[in-house]
Amino acid sequence: MSADNEEHGKFIDEHSGEESTGHEWDGIAELNTPMPRWWLGIMYASIIWSIIYVILMPGIPLLNGYTKGTLGFSDRARVTKAVEKMHAERSVFSQKLIGANLETIQSDPDLLRFAMAQGKSLFGDNCETCHGASGRGFPGYPNLNDDIWLWGGSYADIRQTINYGIRADHDDTRLSLMAAYGRDEIFSRTEIGALTDYVINLSTPSDKPNTLGTTLFAENCTSCHGDLGKGTRENGAPDLTDQDWLYGGRRETIQATIFNGRKGLMPNWNERLSQDQIAALSVYVHSLGGGE
Ligand code: HEC
Ligand code: HEC
Repeated sequence: MSADNEEHGKFIDEHSGEESTGHEWDGIAELNTPMPRWWLGIMYASIIWSIIYVILMPGIPLLNGYTKGTLGFSDRARVTKAVEKMHAERSVFSQKLIGANLETIQSDPDLLRFAMAQGKSLFGDNCETCHGASGRGFPGYPNLNDDIWLWGGSYADIRQTINYGIRADHDDTRLSLMAAYGRDEIFSRTEIGALTDYVINLSTPSDKPNTLGTTLFAENCTSCHGDLGKGTRENGAPDLTDQDWLYGGRRETIQATIFNGRKGLMPNWNERLSQDQIAALSVYVHSLGGGE
């Protein structure tokens, strides 16, 4: 501050050339420096913009609601519309799925993609508890990734299984009826031992003679497991000649199967899932095993 300042008057600052406001505290004076023009310009533009925005768009909260704005824009309405559109598209796909056969589904890439996505997510929610992650299976719960099927691996077979289950509480369920040959005293321990040897021999042949086992198997087991032990799908009876075991191929396990029987139970889903969901699941499961 220059020495010749008046005590309470305005003056021109000699460093900046700005006029003072006339306020001064303990020898410190306030200069009247105006806002830069560019800054003011932006501020006035923002004010005008916010007024226009509040007129056009929803903005000011009121006691019960808010101002709607003249454009009538609403995020909620937009989401509702998008959800409606998705449901409409889905229901078109769902309707198509119910009636379509596998060829039709496979020849429509959008429909196939929809069915696979639906099927995969339904499988995760409903089936993995028993059939394992991505259908790998556990003892007693068939692996759905291979092409070995108890009841058939065609799209129609799979759809039937899922709809009505196996030993489930439904008139059309598949009936799996392996008896408890030991517990129900149909056979003696010796006879069960001979049958066990016979079954082991089917998948890992040896030259040991086993007349008792051969006779008992032919008389009691071939009606379901087939003359050659290769299984029959009408009865859901597994192939006993391969190395793929539903319950296990160890001697004790096979013996336990014949002694106690097996009662694999798969629930029917026709009362819990809709037909388009079951169709989607069938497409998905069919694709897992490579598909018959
Ligand atoms: C409570 C356990 C359980 C659940 C849940 C379950 N399954 Fe099963 N599933 C089984 C059993 C056990 C079998 C084998 C029955 C038998 O021994 O014949 C089976 C068999 C099958 C078969 C026949 C396999 C073949 O080789 O023919 C298919 C297909 C199948 N399940 C699909 C599904 C699908 C899809 C779901 C979900 C919607 C599902 N399962 C849910 C227990 C279950
Ligand atoms: C009424 C039809 C029927 C008859 C008869 C029958 N089975 Fe079975 N068997 C089945 C079915 C169905 C299964 C699968 C059971 C399940 O998954 O619950 C099975 C399963 C088995 C298994 C388990 C296979 C595996 O992969 O783990 C063995 C072993 C077996 N049977 C042996 C026999 C023998 C030995 C006899 C004769 C004494 C016999 N079965 C008679 C229907 C039959």
